[in-house]
Amino acid sequence: MINKHSPVPIYYQIEQSIKNLIDKGDLKPGDMIPSEREYAENYQISRMTVRQAINNLVNDGYLIRQKGKGTFVASQKIEQKLLGLTSFTEDMKARGHVPSTLLLDFKKIDATNELAVNLNVQMGDALYEIKRIRLADGFPMALETNYMPVQLVHHLTEEVAKGSIYQFVEQRLGLEIDYATQELESSVARETESELLNIAKGAPVLHIKRRTFLKNGCPLEFVHSIYRGDRYKFVIDMHRS
Ligand code: GLP
Repeated sequence: MINKHSPVPIYYQIEQSIKNLIDKGDLKPGDMIPSEREYAENYQISRMTVRQAINNLVNDGYLIRQKGKGTFVASQKIEQKLLGLTSFTEDMKARGHVPSTLLLDFKKIDATNELAVNLNVQMGDALYEIKRIRLADGFPMALETNYMPVQLVHHLTEEVAKGSIYQFVEQRLGLEIDYATQELESSVARETESELLNIAKGAPVLHIKRRTFLKNGCPLEFVHSIYRGDRYKFVIDMHRS
C-alpha cells in the first residue's frame, strides 16, 4: 500500500493509511500500533519517515504516545457545535457520554475589578468561585472556573456544583438563561492544568471565556474553561448570506 514511486511523500502515505484504519474502525481507541522499527522494516523505509507520519498523527490527536509503552489510538475527539447555548452536562449527554464533575474548590470571594466588570457588580461584592474538573465517562475533559454573583444565585451548594449548574439555575431558581458571549483561544497546559487534566505540560488546550446572561440582561456567570485539545473539537456551520 506504500508506493515509493508516487509523487505523494511516503510519510503522508503512511499517515493516510493509519488514519484510514482508524476511521474505518479497524484500529480502535486504545489499540497499540506497530513500532517505528516495525513500520520501517515492513515498508523498507527509514525510521525518520515513519516518525514524521506518527508525529503528525499525534499532533492531530489521532494517536497518543505513552512513554516506555508505545503508541496508541486516541479516543475520538468530542465534537461540539458552536451553535446554541448548552451546558457541559447537556453536551456530554447529547453525545452519549456520561458527564461527571470533580469539585476542586467552592468558596465565596470578593469581586476583583476584572470580575466586577464582567459580572456587572460592584468591586467587593460577594461572588461564588467554583473550580471543577468536568469528565466524560470518567475521563477529564475540561477544567472550569465559574464566577457567579451570590445575590443572584442564592442557595448554591457544593452538591449542586457537583452536578449541572444550568439545571439548578433554570429548574430550581426559575431564572431564564438567555445568551452568552464566548471567546476561544488556543493555549498550552500549564503545570497544574496538566496535572488536573492528565496531559503533558505544554500540551495544546483551548482556553474558553464565557459570559452568560439572563433574560433580564443580568450577567449570570463569567467562566474560564480549559479544554483538552486532544479530546475536543469545535465545529461551526457558516452560511453565506
Ligand atoms: C459549559 C460552559 C460553562 C458553563 C457550564 C455549565 O461547560 N463552558 O460556562 O458554566 O457549561 O455546565 P453544567 O450545567 O453542566 O454545570
